[in-house]
This record gives sequence, C-alpha cells and structure tokens, in this order.
Amino acid sequence: MRRPILAANWKMYKTTAEATAFAAELLALLKERGGGQCEIVVCPPFTALAVLRDALAGSPVELGGQNLYPQKEGAYTGEISGSMLREAGASYAIIGHSERRQYFGESDAFLNEKVKAALSEGLKPILCVGETLAQRRGGEMASVCQGQLAGALAGLDPSICDTLVIAYEPVWAIGTGESAQAADAQETAGLLRQWLREAYGATAADQVRIQYGGSAKPENIAGYLAMPDIDGALIGGAGLKAASYWAMIQAAG
Ligand code: PGA
Repeated sequence: MRRPILAANWKMYKTTAEATAFAAELLALLKERGGGQCEIVVCPPFTALAVLRDALAGSPVELGGQNLYPQKEGAYTGEISGSMLREAGASYAIIGHSERRQYFGESDAFLNEKVKAALSEGLKPILCVGETLAQRRGGEMASVCQGQLAGALAGLDPSICDTLVIAYEPVWAIGTGESAQAADAQETAGLLRQWLREAYGATAADQVRIQYGGSAKPENIAGYLAMPDIDGALIGGAGLKAASYWAMIQAAG
C-alpha cells in the first residue's frame, strides 16, 4: 500500500512573513485532522525553509527544497547543496521541474547527478517528468516521459525505489488551469511504472509513488487519487493558499 503524498511547490512565491502566516493557518486546520493518512510536504523558496521548519516543528508537515546543486560545497555562486537543504529542514528535493528544464536548460544527465546528490545527502527526490503539448500531439508522450526517467535514473539500482517519488507533470497543464484528464494521467503513470518494473523489478517498482501535477486543485484531486498508479499530487497554484491545500489534504485522507 503506497502512502499518498501531496507536495505543495511554492515556486518563487512567498516571503518569510507570508510563509509564517500560511504555516499558522495550516496548523490551525490540521488540528481538525484525526490521524490522516497522506503525507504533507511543503516546498517553499530556500529563504523560507528554516522559518517553516521552526513554525511547523512537531506537526506532520514535511519540507522540501525546489532544487539543489550536485556538489557538497564549493565555488558555485547562487547554488545550494543537499546538506544545506537538510540543515534548513528539508527531507525532500524537487528535481527536474519543467521550469528548471525550460528556463535553466537542465539536461537529463545533469538531473541524474542531482538525483544521486540528493540520495547521498539523505534527501528524497521528487523527480519531475512530462511532455510538452507539441510532443503529446506528435505521439511522443511515452518516449519523452520514459526517456526523461531513464536519463535521470541512469546508473541507480533498485534501492532508489524506497525513497523515489516521481511527479508526472504534463507541461501544457502546469499553471494553465487546463488539467489532464485523470484517465490520461493514469495512462502515463502506468507507462512510468512499467518502465520502473522493467528496470528494477515489480516489487521495487510497486513501491514508487507517482504524483500527478498540472493544475491539480480541490475540484479534481479525487479523480487522480482514484487512479491505480497515481499516489498524490505536486501542487502549484492551489498549494499557495492554506484553505485549498487543506481541502486537497482532506480529499487524500
Ligand atoms: P500548478 O503547478 O499546480 O500551478 O499547475 C504545478 C507545478 O508546477 O508543480
């Protein structure tokens, strides 16, 4: 039984003051929750990590970074290491978000280094894959998504399946309000799990949690969660407001 995971990706939104206010609101809502099942992860800008670690201490909410650089330390101006994320309170790291691929030119080979760095620093990777609209229309969805997975996981053994989370995020659905049909998201999640089975065996592959991402919101989350290969969501816009994030947490149980 895979535990659902709802991760809020705040992108470049929220000052520390805004993050603190969100934490207070979410904590108040969580008081109503009686032993919920799903895992709750907030991925704020780096500047808000330590603030949220302190504000959310003792709560079930976990934290994640939105990116990391695959070196322990060094002369890499503007970058952040996995151990720094850990120290600031993160237990997850989003890797390969389509915005990183698109605006910062991150290749599958570079993302492979990041996945390895995250694992060696004790961070659980949330690895994002997804096709563009042109690729979907061109019938390339399966080859693009499976290719991104193969590239980012090159050289890793089945033990990665204990901690790995995959976020299937069709690029055309991110921030557009145009979410994928649950059945279409399931089709891709199924193909990703099939790839994992072939690479790592069925037992390991069946442990990996696969999220859907792309305009996921309170109105459509239940449809995704009902799919056999979808185990949660990576949430952008709807994760910025405590009330809508909370509604999704309730839907996931
Ligand atoms: P969205 O973003 O929910 O606002 O579409 C999802 C994401 O980019 O992870």
